Amino acid sequence: MSVIMGHPAAGTPAGSAAAAEFFAVRDIHAYYGESYIVQGVSLDVNKGEILALLGRNGAGKTSTLRAIARMDNPELKSGEIWLEGNPLHNQKSWQASRAGIQLVPEDRRIIPGMTVEENLVLAQVAPGHGMSIEELYEHFPRLAERRTQEAVTMSGGEQQMLAVARALAREVKLLLLDEPYEGLAPVIVQEIERIVQSIKARGITTIIVEQNAVAALRLSDRAVIMDTGQIVFTGTAKELLDNAELRNEYLAI
Ligand SMILES: Nc1ncnc2c1ncn2[C@@H]1O[C@H](COP(=O)(O)OP(=O)(O)OP(=O)(O)O)[C@@H](O)[C@H]1O
Ligand SMILES: [Mg+2]
Repeated sequence: MSVIMGHPAAGTPAGSAAAAEFFAVRDIHAYYGESYIVQGVSLDVNKGEILALLGRNGAGKTSTLRAIARMDNPELKSGEIWLEGNPLHNQKSWQASRAGIQLVPEDRRIIPGMTVEENLVLAQVAPGHGMSIEELYEHFPRLAERRTQEAVTMSGGEQQMLAVARALAREVKLLLLDEPYEGLAPVIVQEIERIVQSIKARGITTIIVEQNAVAALRLSDRAVIMDTGQIVFTGTAKELLDNAELRNEYLAI
């Protein structure tokens, strides 16, 4: 499968060798048992950048995020993952988390029987490393209003905010968001966009997987498209939006 480059320098950001080394994925291959799913993915992400990871259902987006977060499944069989010059490919998920990679999974994993605040306190594995509870409430005023509410009784949008807030309660350098807008009203999508932009201003880097490609591209500096476990496009959001063939084939927009 040929890789369509939107720009000659896309994928290896030009002019900033140090920035290019912030986060790099080099030819990773990952399996669920015998199933070969992530088939040679490479990515470069600059510090403070927002990268959209797009593609059809079953393309391997979630699997790629899980491999990056060093979950046991899919199993990484070869390739390298580097964060700020430190190798993560031989590490476990707790070590990747401690290094600053935080995955917000699609199903959010809100803990039942606990309030909003208890969920946040529990997320602070090492207080002093991520945002304080009060800082989180400044970013998420809706959560401040609901701090004593049982978290699972909140709306879908509020639960998504809590899922993002929990990631920020930890040391976070690279935030991995898996379909954060799924099922949410446009006004809530905009609120989450505002939060991602404000954490970008603090130098936090984000990879966002979304079916809502228009919303993801609005937020992103660059985009990659995956298909059948491989990267088939890398370029800027504009290059992708200007390419009707790619949009029709992979994004249905
Ligand atoms: N635990 C698993 N065991 C076996 N195969 C799996 C497992 N999880 C995912 N797969 C398969 O891996 C492929 C990629 O799935 P993945 O969830 O990464 O895709 P995706 O791009 O995130 O799709 P979607 O947009 O539907 O979320 C699919 O064919 C899927 O069936
Ligand atoms: Mg997925």
